[in-house]
Amino acid sequence: MIDKNAPIGVFDSGVGGLTVAREIMRQIPNERIVYFGDTARVPYGSKSKETVTRFSRQIVRFLQTQKVKAIVIACNTASAYALEEIEAELDIPIIGVVKPGAKVAAETTANGKIGVIATEGTIGSHIYSRYIKEINPEAEVIGKACPLFVPLVEEGLWQDPVTDEIAKRYLTELIDIGIDTLILGCTHYPLIRSTVGKTMGDGVTLVNPAYETARELKELLTKKGLLNEEEAKLGDNRYCFYVSDAAEKFKRFANSIIKYGILSAKVINIEEY
Ligand code: DGL
Repeated sequence: MIDKNAPIGVFDSGVGGLTVAREIMRQIPNERIVYFGDTARVPYGSKSKETVTRFSRQIVRFLQTQKVKAIVIACNTASAYALEEIEAELDIPIIGVVKPGAKVAAETTANGKIGVIATEGTIGSHIYSRYIKEINPEAEVIGKACPLFVPLVEEGLWQDPVTDEIAKRYLTELIDIGIDTLILGCTHYPLIRSTVGKTMGDGVTLVNPAYETARELKELLTKKGLLNEEEAKLGDNRYCFYVSDAAEKFKRFANSIIKYGILSAKVINIEEY
């Protein structure tokens, strides 16, 4: 029997997945979370499928030592590369961020032209296109890798002329194609949502997969009888953060986007798992 009061494991290559954790905290506040950010090995977006899958397996093994009842891969690159393989090996529910985002985009578009901005890995996997076409076979999906967005977000340049300029360079071709829906296909990107929105203009709907992922997680936990309906009486242990390096920097960043004071982030040696 899985304990309903057990935490949900959430992981990303670093800080990006905090946008998903934040949404889970908002939509299902009675859930405990154990978050792991692989800050020693970020970025995942430029690494191979084999490497990202190996890293993801290690993190899943670590999260299992924390007795999690479900896992959320809060990283598009790891969801694209590793979710299907790992899902087949696990006996607890696991979801990624790609499918929920693809579903909303497929249902949102009016002209059938959907843009996806993401890491090189996610774009190269064509995973968004695959999932979107399962729902809307007529849709045209245009992917654009935006590798500079991750370091800009991590440097805190969320609203800055440099980010405006890079956004223009990356997004002009999507504007020219006339997309009406754009998926923020990297969990870092919701933090520069206003820059992306301003560049694309009012006619383009931005899809943030974090929102849909939290909604889908709630549905899944309810269906499996795993949703924690009682207010957790866990004080400081409600949200636990682990990283593979640079805990102080992670903590500062986390506290800038999550309103619950994050008291500590512990460094673990993920290679041991
Ligand atoms: N947050 C990761 C994602 O969603 C990207 C960052 C990285 O390249 O590691 O794909």
